[in-house]
This record gives sequence, C-alpha cells and structure tokens, in this order.
Amino acid sequence: MVKDLISITQLTKDHINQIIDYAKDYKNRYHNGETKFSDLRGKSVLLPFFESSTRTRTSFELAGKLLSADTINISGSSSSTTKGETLFDTIKTIEAMQSDFIVIRHSMSGAAYQVAKHVKSHVINAGDGQNEHPSQALLDTFTILEHKGSLEGLKIAIIGDILHSRVARSDIKIFKKLGAEVTICGPLTLIPRHVESLNIDYFTTDVEDAIKDKDVVIFLRMQLERQKKVFFSTLNEYSIKYGLNQKRVDMLKDDCLIMHPGPVNRGVEMQSELVYGSRSVILEQVENGLFTRMAIYKFLLNN
Ligand code: CP
Repeated sequence: MVKDLISITQLTKDHINQIIDYAKDYKNRYHNGETKFSDLRGKSVLLPFFESSTRTRTSFELAGKLLSADTINISGSSSSTTKGETLFDTIKTIEAMQSDFIVIRHSMSGAAYQVAKHVKSHVINAGDGQNEHPSQALLDTFTILEHKGSLEGLKIAIIGDILHSRVARSDIKIFKKLGAEVTICGPLTLIPRHVESLNIDYFTTDVEDAIKDKDVVIFLRMQLERQKKVFFSTLNEYSIKYGLNQKRVDMLKDDCLIMHPGPVNRGVEMQSELVYGSRSVILEQVENGLFTRMAIYKFLLNN
C-alpha cells in the first residue's frame, strides 16, 4: 500500500505505469470536453507551501478542484510558523481540520517524510529542500513518453546545478527505473561529491560532450537561493560554458527534446529565444503537470 508520495524510491515500475495511465486518461477526457471529475468529491486538500512556487502549487490546487475536492492554500509566510509554531504543530493543526491530502513544500530535506510519519492524511511531497520532487519526475516522464513511447534505452542528459537540485535526484531515479541511460553535466563545484551514489551512467563537465547523441536534454535552474557560497565566477561565464545557445541546439539530434522544470533564468540556463523554441517541450511539461497531479491523487486514494 502506498499512503504517501514522498520519494520516487517508493514506486515500482507498475506504480509509475499506473500513474501515467491515469494521467493519460485524464488528459484525453479533458481534451474531449470533460472538465469536471468526481473522483475526489467530499475530500479536502490542504496545501502548506513554505517555499515559493507557481507551477507545483497551482497545478496541485487546480488538479484537486477538477477532481471536485475542496482545496485550501496555506502560505508559509502568512502561517503561524512566523509566530514560532513548529512544523509538527502546524501539520497536526492541519490534520485536525480533517484533511484527506496534505501537499507540502518545504526547504528542509526530509520534511514531507517527517510529516507523513505523524499524520493519517495522504502526504504528497511537493519538493523538500534539495532532496526530491517526485511529481516533477512523474510529469517529466509522462512528457517524454508522449514523444518517445518508452524510456527503455533512451539517452537523457541533465545539465546544470545538480548539487542543489531535487528535480535531478527524482528524475535520475525514475529514468533509471524505466531503463534510460542518464548523463549528468555541470561545473565540478555543482556536482555532488559522491556522484557515483546517484546511479548515473556518465558524468562530464563538458556540455557539448553531454548533449551529443541524446534523445532528451534537461537544463536545470541555477538555484541561487540554496547556494550559500560561491560555486562559479559569474552567471555570464556559467551561461557561456553550460547554457543552451543556438550553436548547441544545432548539435542536437533532430528529434531531441529540450526540457526545463522551470522557472527558467533566461539567459543563464538557456538563451531567451530558445525557451519556447521548436524543440522545447517546457509548456507541455507544465500542462502535463496538471494531469499528472490529478493522477497522483487518484493513485493514492485507490491504493
Ligand atoms: N518546477 C517547479 O517546481 O516549479 P515551481 O517552483 O514554480 O513550482
């Protein structure tokens, strides 16, 4: 039984396929005119977000509403944590309001896991520090599957601030589980010290080496808010060495997908005109995020 979604580690291949099948079904039905579903009627979804978010918070909220749940946002900056209440007491308070789902984002790695241990509600990790972002990994997988049919044998490169990226950690886990070959690339200062523990196939500091022959390239946001020391000299130099520009797009395979979890630092991870360029599926990732999050609710409820 899977009560909570905390980490990709918890999910088997069958679980992942089940979630993707639900997401596909919701997307098809939505595009055929069905815009209200009753799967979560009578259920409540509370969304305590202690870090900023546009895509994840909005799509989990909208997903809940489309499934007929009652949804309530709790912003960290306006919650009683600013008066000194602990995360534990905040979450017990939320649970006492009979929440069926708690969708939590927090700057502390392990926050969602700690919450899930203490409540009966289904807990969904919407990003915990630099640890994991499982719903992002599921929506990335759904987007790749729509274009490529399978991840078995696909060559995927993840480029940028791997050290601080919860997206990279969840993406690597799900891509490897589904049979892809994963390369990571970035400046040495932004690669975790024990890189071999990430279970990747190849690591390079040369972005042009990383992107050649790939089926998918994922550029990561430079997470300046998590960088407590200097990891590179200037953003401009980072962009020249690691950013996506037209010359590098021309080196890609013709059918290579360009992805980014967002938000993009335009001119840093990629040149501005490439963000919504012809190979970019960034907005498809956003749309698929909605259906994937509907699928996650259904999966947890049906388990
Ligand atoms: N990809 C992602 O987590 O975006 P938000 O921070 O806008 O939710």
